[in-house]
Amino acid sequence: MRRRTDRLSIEDFMLRPVEPIAPVAGQALIATRMIALDPYLARAMKSWTGEHPDWGDGTIHGRVIGEVLATRSPALAVGDHVLAVARWQAFDVVDAAQVEILDSRIDPPSLALGVVGRSGITAWVGLHLAAPQSGETLLVSAASGPVGSVVGQLAKARGLRVVGTAGGEEKCAYVRDTLGFDACLDHRLPDLVERIAAAAPHGVDILFENVGAPSLDAALPAMNRHGRIQLCGLAAHYNDEQPMALRHFKELLYRAITLRGFITAEHSHLFAPALAALHAGIDEGWIRHSETIVDGLENAPAAYLDMLKGQGIGKRLIRP
Ligand SMILES: NC(=O)c1ccc[n+]([C@@H]2O[C@H](COP(=O)([O-])OP(=O)(O)OC[C@H]3O[C@@H](n4cnc5c(N)ncnc54)[C@H](OP(=O)(O)O)[C@@H]3O)[C@@H](O)[C@H]2O)c1
Repeated sequence: MRRRTDRLSIEDFMLRPVEPIAPVAGQALIATRMIALDPYLARAMKSWTGEHPDWGDGTIHGRVIGEVLATRSPALAVGDHVLAVARWQAFDVVDAAQVEILDSRIDPPSLALGVVGRSGITAWVGLHLAAPQSGETLLVSAASGPVGSVVGQLAKARGLRVVGTAGGEEKCAYVRDTLGFDACLDHRLPDLVERIAAAAPHGVDILFENVGAPSLDAALPAMNRHGRIQLCGLAAHYNDEQPMALRHFKELLYRAITLRGFITAEHSHLFAPALAALHAGIDEGWIRHSETIVDGLENAPAAYLDMLKGQGIGKRLIRP
């Protein structure tokens, strides 16, 4: 990465050849099989000024699935598939203590980077923290993405009315017809405030916010008294340094709303029940999911920026 402006663009990325590295004691050499295009990475990409504290030589590090090609750790065998944080490269060396052997039940394995991985866990944990009750109404933004899609399906299974917002009619049709949400609204069309009110005739009890200020602002007038907002993500802002504005900010007080930001990693005690529920949902067929896979490391920068702009349905991935 090289930083030029406050907003990431394709010119900030470069592809360069790397020398293969041999693993030392405690390490393994992995071939990267799949890379997750995670929205939060944009924040770290933009803080790159030449000496990123975690990224050493400036190569992007992200969540990947790798296959062990050589190992100097008894914890890993050649052929194991692992979840790791590694460089966006075809090969990398990783510390065996820092990787997780992939659960063989996960089919296809790429789901471990999405609905049966951190995205699904985030959905389950965030919903759990909101204490959803049957009969309530939940509104979730980025509803076709790996977090939002699972939030909505888990909430439906618990007897809530579920409304999503997404970019474009194709995504909204998928959210309604395939994922089974009660309604999905295209946030790119006008009058979102009025359309949310119509889709949530009894008001919104829980807002699961994945996008940020514009999306939250449009939801506030429909929130019920003592409503809860789970602030999960800021997809609209990771690659944007514009000041944020909330026209309906006062409603937070007037409606005695609780707004809670949460970081999934701080709730690791909930990962086991979350994964159990996600496996059950996949096995029983009531958690539906999609992936958009782009081939070739050279296409990763454009695919990443496209993902931030909303292109593609479900988890966005690179197959190097
Ligand atoms: N709190 C945590 O610990 C934690 C953990 C994991 C993920 N997260 C966050 O959870 C959120 C969802 O993650 P994900 O992987 O499922 O993301 P995602 O849905 O795959 O991607 C983000 C989506 O946000 C939407 N978006 C972007 N800019 C927008 C804008 N200006 N207005 C409205 N929508 C916009 C786009 O979808 P549309 O085309 O539908 O608009 C885009 O595809 C992200 O913000 C992520 O950072 C948080």
